[in-house]
Amino acid sequence: MTEVSLDHHSPKPKDPTRRDFLILTAGALGAVGTAYFTWPFIDSMNPASDVLAQSTIDVDLSPIPLGQAITVVWRGKPIFIRHRTPQEIKVAEQVPLSELIDPEKDQERVKKGHDQWLIVVGICTHLGCIPTGNKPTENRGKYGGWACPCHGSLYDTSGRVRRGPAPANLHIPPYTFLTTTKIRIGANEVNNG
Ligand code: FES
Repeated sequence: MTEVSLDHHSPKPKDPTRRDFLILTAGALGAVGTAYFTWPFIDSMNPASDVLAQSTIDVDLSPIPLGQAITVVWRGKPIFIRHRTPQEIKVAEQVPLSELIDPEKDQERVKKGHDQWLIVVGICTHLGCIPTGNKPTENRGKYGGWACPCHGSLYDTSGRVRRGPAPANLHIPPYTFLTTTKIRIGANEVNNG
């Protein structure tokens, strides 16, 4: 088991909209997970190796409600894991590439057969703020994905930038599905999964 510490974190501490931003940090041995039912356990992959433990994390997707996202920390970065609704997927797939600032098909941003799961690095590609929108009660902007509180960039349900000043889509970390409800982040770098 891996200890998961719950940490309130904010790029703008005085901003009340950031107050409930909750991140999970993989750490030493132990387990937490009852504080909030939507937050999954994270397991490091090789307790014998500090380096490998930091390079990959496993995340159980099953507690994440439809339409919501969680944040886990991988290599010090917030990773958003969003359980997309069928409507959100449909909208993301139907956007003409000509309308996109950083053209990329939705299908290129998810794993085949797992398109209800969008996994992105939760760092705005403008100047690095953390966008809001993991919870339906947070501001998601007009495109239904995430909204950056710093300078107003908006992202859609594929994590693609739809309004700047951010120049690029939210990045996709390397990951692989271990089962239909479990992913390993960082795994592409380990086993090409
Ligand atoms: S850092 Fe997100 S819009 Fe500037």
